[in-house]
Amino acid sequence: MNSMDLVRTAQAMVAEGKGILAIDESTGTCQKRFDSIGVECTEKNRRDYRGMLLTTPGLGNNVSGAILFDETLRQSTDDGTSFVSVMQATGIIPGIKVDKGAHPLAGHDGEKITEGLDGLRQRLSEYATLGARFAKWRAVITIGEGIPTTACIEGNCHALARYAALCQEAGLVPIVEPEVLMDGEHSLDECYDVTEATLRALYNQMYEQNVLLEGSILKASMVISGSDCADRADVEGVARATVECLLNTVPAAVAGIVFLSGGQGDQEATAHLDAMNRLGNFPWPLSFSYGRALQAESLATWGKDITANVPAAQDALGHRARMNGLASTGRYEATLEDS
Ligand code: 13P
Repeated sequence: MNSMDLVRTAQAMVAEGKGILAIDESTGTCQKRFDSIGVECTEKNRRDYRGMLLTTPGLGNNVSGAILFDETLRQSTDDGTSFVSVMQATGIIPGIKVDKGAHPLAGHDGEKITEGLDGLRQRLSEYATLGARFAKWRAVITIGEGIPTTACIEGNCHALARYAALCQEAGLVPIVEPEVLMDGEHSLDECYDVTEATLRALYNQMYEQNVLLEGSILKASMVISGSDCADRADVEGVARATVECLLNTVPAAVAGIVFLSGGQGDQEATAHLDAMNRLGNFPWPLSFSYGRALQAESLATWGKDITANVPAAQDALGHRARMNGLASTGRYEATLEDS
């Protein structure tokens, strides 16, 4: 694959009115989600659940691509059609999470470093053969007493850029995701400062590692007050701070920015995205790559009856995808939630 193909894929991932569905939970995280609905976390149930999501009628109208976990990229529907083929038939680009998770950063209490660079070249080559066209790597930055440290930010951004360069070598578009966690009592301003420092470090490293920015996507956390902050900023405040921070740190050449939901409520995440897109035109499309904020309602519905409720659970996902598709162009209205 040449760089024009990378650029075309990256642009398709943020095509107008579309965003990305994140269903790349590790088996451990999936266990937690399934525990919450009282469903056993077996390979078959994970396959049935993700298959239900991926075969939602009309999903491709608002979802450009889906990020899968290794297991899911290799699974098939009951009739033996691979999930990758199902996605290709409906215009949803297959993506794959390739990091090996965030682990304690030695010498730095309370901070994490994402692992997975060893052997990554070989793994990416196999994923490309299996049909993946983009990848995701998530780094985690925690705000707290005396943290994040420069060591944590620099270490994680270095790994993100090394991963991104390897992806492009293999013909996959890298989604680089430095998530500043919402957990904590920190203010909007503190989140702004940490996000700004992180994104500066990230793009310094991206230049150092010769990453083609036009063939890459940033998955960003919003600039938002901590979940335990006493005086949380409103929707307009989050939208303004996030856009200002991104304009000051993210090169215009980046193909697009998609947000994670990070523990926000479904409608809250949609309202934030919509408010940002109403603020004007930016150098990059601003869209979504939500996990929980796209799946929550669908997961709860499916969990009540994993056979009979498949159509209702698909309706719930289709609705959220439509709402976020509208928000990605600044045309969402809360009154549409009942439509
Ligand atoms: P959430 O939207 O649930 O934060 O998940 C997005 C994601 O992919 C995190 O890596």
